[in-house]
Amino acid sequence: MAHKHPLFIALEGIDGSGKSTQAERLCHRMKEAGYPAIITREPTGSPIGRLIRDAFNHRLDLDDRVIAGLFVADRLHHLLARPDGILATLENGVSVICDRYYLSSLAYQGAHMSLDWVMQANAQAMDLRKPDIHLFLDMPPEKAMARISGSREALEKYESLANLSRVREAYRRAMDLLKDKERIAVIPADGTEEEVEAGIWSRISPLLS
Ligand code: TYD
Repeated sequence: MAHKHPLFIALEGIDGSGKSTQAERLCHRMKEAGYPAIITREPTGSPIGRLIRDAFNHRLDLDDRVIAGLFVADRLHHLLARPDGILATLENGVSVICDRYYLSSLAYQGAHMSLDWVMQANAQAMDLRKPDIHLFLDMPPEKAMARISGSREALEKYESLANLSRVREAYRRAMDLLKDKERIAVIPADGTEEEVEAGIWSRISPLLS
């Protein structure tokens, strides 16, 4: 049997774009195709990731610049942790589907501070491991907002319609910045779950060895 090269896939999108559902569907499909795969996410469940969530839930008052730094630290730990970090998992031949990666920092933190700074701060992670592909689930902010409001009691930081629109714009700028260096696919995400899944699979299956 041909050697199956594991893939590192970053899933991106504004809040409410359906990433978690699509991560599950993609993981299932990868396994069906004979590719062991796991789903992981940022912010992670590590102590660094917990600090970020505490800040988002208003349990901890942190400046946006501090949060940006924590995302960088959380990401490096996510990559480098042994035995179950991203790099170790890929080395074991297991594909990794990551719900948000550095494109999220370029979009979300880049909306608050210099995009150059965020790029520099993420250089180490970019150097360690670029994803084989960034999948951007493109959901109209109005529709994402309706989903979020319908499904959560407390709106987290960044989750207002104006913010979602700003973040979507910021994603466009960030993708533009990376487009010559990295593989990025924009997947229309306002169809049915099955349609979005098919859109994603059409970009992933050509990458399977
Ligand atoms: P989370 O509860 O995981 O939201 P979702 O389920 O929508 O992914 O929280 C992630 C939040 O963190 C989301 O609002 C985006 C933000 N974020 C950043 O601001 N920068 C980053 O680098 C990452 C990874 C996430």
